[in-house]
Amino acid sequence: MDAKPVGDVLRTPTSATGTFMACFRIHVRSETETARVASVLAAYLREGDVVLLDGALGSGKTSFVKSVGQALNSSDVITSPTFGIAHFYDTARGRLIHVDTYRLSSLAEFRDLGLEEYLPTSIGLIEWGSAVRNDFRHALNIQIDAIPGGDDGERELTLQSDDIRWSDDLESIALELGRKL
Ligand SMILES: Nc1ncnc2c1ncn2[C@@H]1O[C@H](COP(=O)(O)OP(=O)(O)OP(=O)(O)O)[C@@H](O)[C@H]1O
Ligand SMILES: [Mg+2]
Repeated sequence: MDAKPVGDVLRTPTSATGTFMACFRIHVRSETETARVASVLAAYLREGDVVLLDGALGSGKTSFVKSVGQALNSSDVITSPTFGIAHFYDTARGRLIHVDTYRLSSLAEFRDLGLEEYLPTSIGLIEWGSAVRNDFRHALNIQIDAIPGGDDGERELTLQSDDIRWSDDLESIALELGRKL
């Protein structure tokens, strides 16, 4: 595989909070390479983490979540939660909650799900996450984009967070992917 992170991790001090915005992009050529990114990330995920996934219909958000579940040895097969809104899975690292906000019409409707009771003690992965970004400032944001004019399997993944929680880990993930993809 010859995919590589595109450039270095950018770390930018933000405002007076002293937090850091960290961001890097990676170009993948296949679903297998997306799965590789997901499995490297999975090793860093811990209780209370929230990952917000965005990208067009069919870009690979559910596929990414499935690969995280597999990497965490989830005993269940992860399927698209669009009709159920939220699915709970047991993994080697505790509870994984997979949410798809696509069919929710408002942030209020999301809050009505009552997931805040469970998310602090779970790993949360939320498709169409930008709809609820205001409630998850500490999240890791992952944008999945097809490459205009690119092959079917090509995607650009952008991993970004405003929270210091992800500052060092994003750098480690980028380094690992540089080595392993
Ligand atoms: N590099 C890639 N990464 C992820 N998926 C890929 C890639 N290349 C091709 N695919 C294909 O793209 C499709 C992604 O479907 P998936 O359901 O994961 O998308 P989604 O973003 O969750 O869609 P939706 O917006 O409907 O929830 C799958 O059929 C998968 O095989
Ligand atoms: Mg999906």
